[in-house]
Amino acid sequence: MAMIPLGKLRLGVNIDHVATVRNARGSAYPEPVRAALLAQESGADGITAHLREDRRHISDSDIDGLMDALTVPLNFEMAATEEMQKIALRHKPHAVCIVPEKREELTTEGGLEVARQENKLAHFIAPIRDAGCRVSLFVAADIAQIDAAHRIGADIVELHAGAYCDLFHEEKFEQSKAQLERLREMSAYAHSLGLEVHAGHGFTYDTVKPVAEFPEVMELNIGHFIIGEAIFVGLPAAMKKMIDLMNEARK
Ligand code: PXP
Repeated sequence: MAMIPLGKLRLGVNIDHVATVRNARGSAYPEPVRAALLAQESGADGITAHLREDRRHISDSDIDGLMDALTVPLNFEMAATEEMQKIALRHKPHAVCIVPEKREELTTEGGLEVARQENKLAHFIAPIRDAGCRVSLFVAADIAQIDAAHRIGADIVELHAGAYCDLFHEEKFEQSKAQLERLREMSAYAHSLGLEVHAGHGFTYDTVKPVAEFPEVMELNIGHFIIGEAIFVGLPAAMKKMIDLMNEARK
């Protein structure tokens, strides 16, 4: 395979957990849109927000506000439901990232099952692509899922990095390394099919560099850790350190 030039790696900042803090008290603050604007000012290449079916963090009006206020692209995360499809088609964000969603989960636990619902998803994403949005599918680093994403015409696969990151922080380093190798192989494979490759879920300062080194990966979407770290150092400083690590990995 031809060598891939190491292009800039984009950082998408996920602001869901600003809304989590707001909603814990049912207050009007902290405002996710304000955080998104600060992230944009501080070097975010995009903003990600997940409008969940149960609206546990991001609300419909947050999405309205983000669409009005942002100058960087919005990556609108959503489940493959009719309700969400209508919202996506009304807003036409830069990108729509389809994720699996279970009410009882704490976070997006696994990748989207594309292979077993190829027809359904093909029909689901077609109008979203026709509306001019880029379609991203959040999948496990698994060849069957990537093949299916490619067949149904997705523009992007976002590889679920959660297992790699969680195992690292549980100090199961051998298993974490095995997950990292899967991410490496599947990034190269997805890229060879012509898919744009993103990665996300669970990244911290300790886990970001090995994935940022993969030349096929063009974007990382990071939320929980950056928002948590912002409590101690502020959002611009938390982001700066993450961006510096990403850039070091690309050298
Ligand atoms: N990418 C996707 C598709 C996600 O669902 C999430 C979590 O909402 C993220 C990235 C960000 O993950 P984290 O908040 O763990 O950084």
